[in-house]
Amino acid sequence: MFDQLLKYFQKVKDRKITSLFDQDKQRATNFSVLQEDLFLDFSKTNIDQQAFELLSDLAKYRGISEARDEMFRGELINTSEGRAVLHTALRNLEGSPIYVDKIDIMPSVLQTLEKMKEFSERVRSGQFSGQGGAISDVVNIGIGGSDLGPAMVVRALAPYHNGPKCHFISNVDGSHIHDVLSKLNPETTLVIIASKTFTTSETMKNAQTAYAWMSKVVNEPSLQFVAVSTAVQKTDAFGISRNNVFGFEDWVGGRYSIWGPIGLSIIIAIGAEAFESFLNGAQDMDMHFKTAEIRENLPIILALVGVWHNQICNYSTRAVLPYDQRLGKLPAYLQQLEMESNGKGVDLDGNPLNFHSAPVVWGEAGTNGQHAFFQLLHQGTRVIPCEFLVAAQSHEPYLDHHHKSLLSNCFAQSEALMQGRSFEEVCSNFKNEHIKQGKIERQARHRVFPGSRPSTTLLYPKLTPKILGKIIALYEHRVFVEGKILGINSFDQWGVELGKDLANGLETILIGESESKDLNTSTQSLIKVTKTMW
Ligand code: F6P
Repeated sequence: MFDQLLKYFQKVKDRKITSLFDQDKQRATNFSVLQEDLFLDFSKTNIDQQAFELLSDLAKYRGISEARDEMFRGELINTSEGRAVLHTALRNLEGSPIYVDKIDIMPSVLQTLEKMKEFSERVRSGQFSGQGGAISDVVNIGIGGSDLGPAMVVRALAPYHNGPKCHFISNVDGSHIHDVLSKLNPETTLVIIASKTFTTSETMKNAQTAYAWMSKVVNEPSLQFVAVSTAVQKTDAFGISRNNVFGFEDWVGGRYSIWGPIGLSIIIAIGAEAFESFLNGAQDMDMHFKTAEIRENLPIILALVGVWHNQICNYSTRAVLPYDQRLGKLPAYLQQLEMESNGKGVDLDGNPLNFHSAPVVWGEAGTNGQHAFFQLLHQGTRVIPCEFLVAAQSHEPYLDHHHKSLLSNCFAQSEALMQGRSFEEVCSNFKNEHIKQGKIERQARHRVFPGSRPSTTLLYPKLTPKILGKIIALYEHRVFVEGKILGINSFDQWGVELGKDLANGLETILIGESESKDLNTSTQSLIKVTKTMW
């Protein structure tokens, strides 16, 4: 299947994307999908009917529908860890039964959601207070999936904030915790320790530092700490009352955990109703993913576009460009989702892959990126597929003229990337200027845009909780489909372990408790020189 696609790409790789619009007058409609309030345009890619059919055949051949049903049913598809993958259960609001080890998990999922709602209401109303009165600030301490999701969503949904202010501490770099805590009043601060395993060294160190900070002023600091974790023995050992522990199970992966207790800071910021609407959006996307035909199925289409660009065209990176300032953290969130899930070197059976796994995902909110790296996107030697996201409406009607500029910029970029500007066109633009022909040609070469640079655009009416829920679930399922097409396990992350192991050993060397003899001489020398700088 891959071979057929690779062969087909060789045949069509030199054609202009614009030529596809000449051949198919309905291309803009044929290569876009409107799914309720999400509109995905993938017509500005080099995918034509035949390429799409080959890609769909590949998805079918890889058993996407069967795999999707296995996931939703709770089968142990995370084979290297022997776990089910059921983040979708966290937004199964009707509570239809889902079984893990023959036990229906939904009653406990809904109970936890109720506990989150009740707790968040108590915090927001001032019924749950700190030593100094109502909670003014919430600090989420976590990293990776225990930080990126809530931090991204809290920022994205700023117009819906009507609770205490939320802050996020992730990095073990002391400057992070210092800069956040030094501005807060410990007597009115609530700390959430968010860690699935409750062992992650950065989070544990930050949690202890926050505890020490609060202890200086607050008589019973543990009353102002809550934990979100699967490891209740460990939260007990930290001294957090079980009433203040929000548990979840190992069938929720860290980077897929935003829908449950890891979203505690979100529900405190926006309230239970808006949080439910966020879950509702994700649930709608689940239903769409489960029922829509490939040609209409947004997650599958986005995945096929991803596979086409990365594995077939060999474009090794993907730019995520939200023209939505409040989605500024989306690229970082998607980096973990895509790269931790699908950045693998072996297939499900442990055999080396003979094609590339996940692309490098990166990006920045538009229009800022235009004044930074878009130069390379337009004229650099590498082709970088771009994924634009933009809302038709803003939350600030009085600034509508800003929003019109934002939209124009977004649409102009995808148009420019595709259309390009030819040498002849540039030269003719010089026509009326009195410059010698040789000079015109030299100048013109710098101003040529090759064009045919592919992009997709996801357009939505407004960044509401529901739409954000849908967008995140769309990307989650896209990653799932891509992983399945590659035949890899998208739900483990063994690749993060080696560095963690070495860091633990290195810390003992740095503090002089052991020697560095097993380390490479380059690392030994880094340690030695560091010590001379202390
Ligand atoms: O190191 C990677 C990782 O395990 C991620 O997968 C996870 O999201 C993050 O660390 C945080 O883990 P935890 O929630 O257990 O602290």
